[in-house]
Amino acid sequence: MSNQIKIPRGTQDILPGDSEKWQLIETKARELCERYQYREIRTPIFEHTDLFQRGVGDTTDIVQKEMYTFTDRGGRSLTLRPEGTAAAVRSFVEHKMFGNPNQPVKLYYIGPMFRYERPQAGRFRQFVQFGVEAMGSADPAIDAEVISLALRLYQELGLKKLKLVINSLGDKISRTAHREALVTHFSPRIGEFCTDCQNRLEKNPMRILDCKADRDHELMRSAPSIIDYLTDDSRNYFNKVTTFLTDMEIEFEVDANLVRGLDYYNHTAFEIMSNAEGFGAITTLCGGGRYNGLVEEIGGPETPGIGFALSVERLIAALEAEGAELPVKEEIDCYLVSLGDEAKDYTVGLLHQLRMAGFSAERDYLDRKIKAQFKAADRVNAKYVAVLGENELKEKKINLKSMADGVQIEVPLESFIEKFKEICR
Ligand code: HAM
Repeated sequence: MSNQIKIPRGTQDILPGDSEKWQLIETKARELCERYQYREIRTPIFEHTDLFQRGVGDTTDIVQKEMYTFTDRGGRSLTLRPEGTAAAVRSFVEHKMFGNPNQPVKLYYIGPMFRYERPQAGRFRQFVQFGVEAMGSADPAIDAEVISLALRLYQELGLKKLKLVINSLGDKISRTAHREALVTHFSPRIGEFCTDCQNRLEKNPMRILDCKADRDHELMRSAPSIIDYLTDDSRNYFNKVTTFLTDMEIEFEVDANLVRGLDYYNHTAFEIMSNAEGFGAITTLCGGGRYNGLVEEIGGPETPGIGFALSVERLIAALEAEGAELPVKEEIDCYLVSLGDEAKDYTVGLLHQLRMAGFSAERDYLDRKIKAQFKAADRVNAKYVAVLGENELKEKKINLKSMADGVQIEVPLESFIEKFKEICR
């Protein structure tokens, strides 16, 4: 076993027993999207590297340090997608969805994303994001809708300890004014900050507020807040969003320091965190916001947009921290127990008929003794066990036992499937 090959760092296998939870979460996400009228889009796992440089932003950690970028055999630079928004926008432009009669265009996706980050609890190098993107409307009601969809998913899966944090990053004018104030604030003492922040001062000073290394520096607390630089339009927009949230009875906290790690945001930015005790250091479950301007950046016409993404990994971690069990059913309709070679062979056809009739069914493939077959039936939580021995076969009948109440009946072999349908109905 010494030359055994192990799974790459920051990735995980989802094994049977757990994969059912993933399926349930995905099913719930799809069902919610149906209710909210978002439709699925599936884009490639890799895209041209330029898309993320332009879309996510050159100064972000994602683009500077975290992308899985490779040159293909044709000499093109490609990147495994680190997030879903840029690709959704690319596709929106490429397929001219801005011309669809149904506006806004409301999309969702579920799939793996890749970031070369330092793995720790809740942080993987491959993780699955569920995300939605609404493009084509600048109505603050859509911001509230998107936020409520994300919260609903968590709530309907059983999470209670959630905190919604929101902020406004304003429009271009607000951001330019805030940017200047930040430069004035940090410049005199930027030497006391990490090299990342020193670079950010020029390129994107807002990102300094998001720095983990310099979090406790005294200039952080006194830094100018975007809220004070919002234009009247931006402030009115933000007020509408918070009013709609209140109308929906959604609780939130405004945090002027919430800046998000991607460059495309303006106006509404939000995160949903877990409050659960014992939840790891990374408490953000979901992040999103408005990205008016991104569609133009990717080559399309002026189109507003908003969305969010959340990872299934962190959602599952939050469920575990709260001790919330997902209602995954692991049971089968019928297990066929047989005794003797002839009866064993007979169950091959019988099993096939059960499955053709739509039932989940299983039989023994290891030539096990009858007791071990019953144990196997128990392990897969069989609702019924059908026993076919030599005598039964001779008399053309089968013994059917309900595992819920132990009641047994004898059924003629030829009408077994019909009878089973009747019982299960
Ligand atoms: P993000 O904040 O980079 O935003 O990621 C969104 C969510 O993805 C996070 O809140 C977290 O649940 C999950 N996530 C991110 N990185 C990891 C990781 N290494 N391991 C596990 N989970 C992770 C975006 O990606 C934006 N595209 C969201 C968006 C959509 N904004 C507008 N539309």
